[in-house]
Amino acid sequence: GDLLEQIAMTGARVARGMGVRALRELGRRVGRQVKCAAVRQQTRSAHSASQGDVRKIALVQGASRGLGLEFASALLERQSDSVVVATCRNPEASEGLARLREVHGPSRVHSVRLDLTDPGSIAEAAERVKRDFTPRLDLLINVSGVLHIPGKMMPETSLARVEYDQMLLSFQTHAMGPALVCKEFWPLLQASARADEAVLPAMVNISARVGSISDNQLGGWYAYRSSKAALNQLTKTMAVEFSRKKPKVAAIALHPGTNDTDLSKPFQRNYPKEKIFAKEFGVRKMLEVIDAVAEEDNGKFFAWDGQEIPW
Ligand SMILES: NC(=O)c1ccc[n+]([C@@H]2O[C@H](COP(=O)([O-])OP(=O)(O)OC[C@H]3O[C@@H](n4cnc5c(N)ncnc54)[C@H](OP(=O)(O)O)[C@@H]3O)[C@@H](O)[C@H]2O)c1
Repeated sequence: GDLLEQIAMTGARVARGMGVRALRELGRRVGRQVKCAAVRQQTRSAHSASQGDVRKIALVQGASRGLGLEFASALLERQSDSVVVATCRNPEASEGLARLREVHGPSRVHSVRLDLTDPGSIAEAAERVKRDFTPRLDLLINVSGVLHIPGKMMPETSLARVEYDQMLLSFQTHAMGPALVCKEFWPLLQASARADEAVLPAMVNISARVGSISDNQLGGWYAYRSSKAALNQLTKTMAVEFSRKKPKVAAIALHPGTNDTDLSKPFQRNYPKEKIFAKEFGVRKMLEVIDAVAEEDNGKFFAWDGQEIPW
């Protein structure tokens, strides 16, 4: 109480460690708004908790199966008025997407062809989305990935196994393709912020912890690791540009943890069973992280549990 009085009298800068409630009380007593990092943080949390409610129009790139299909499903389930644009290489062949259209209706689930190894298909997809479905996007999630192809490609255990074609496919899928997707759809994210100032549009690139250079203890997986590291650098570079432009868009990289999907299947026996997530769990946790993304998170690399990962 005495300290509050003193501060109120002198208008002094408040010491570290003072509780947020005490600071608000101080503000109330002196009839002024108190500014400090902790109060801003609380305000941000309150604001960002609502982003999950306001980000209603999402594009999920790589939605035919695995985590991408689960993202599409979870986004449709949680709000009755949400809309998902689901892109993939061959929309007609995805039974999962057909099921989502059946359950949620064709006006809420739009499928569009987009192949990350074909730049023309990325530009065409953006044209089609703008022309036929939506002029704005509140959320873009780049999910597609490739780690192995049965009978054709396995992650390299040694430098001696590095192959040009595997490197090329990994970089097309994890870096070059997603960069063009972000380029083409950025204006639609900006359009969302322009249309509704409550929305902070988010661009989310699904990366992998193995893409962190400082976290690399094990080596191996040359193509996958280095292409995810490239995706991380692209995300950070976009974030720097976004921070200088208006309206604001936030870009983050996100590690899903180890999830039970086709991608992780051949490697699961080396991993404790209890640490392998069901897709539903992994996606629910990632959506919690995405919902909380605020302006100050632009340019960060998060894990599924919200912990920041060093680049
Ligand atoms: N699962 C994990 O434990 C784990 C861990 C760390 C990071 N990740 C990352 O999480 C993301 C999703 O992985 P997942 O586990 O869901 O994998 P998944 O089940 O194998 O699904 C991969 C998805 O990527 C799509 N894809 C591949 N190449 C493509 C291309 N050229 N153009 C467009 N789409 C393409 C596939 O489409 P098709 O159906 O057409 O093949 C499929 O939808 C990936 O970025 C992966 O690196 C996963």
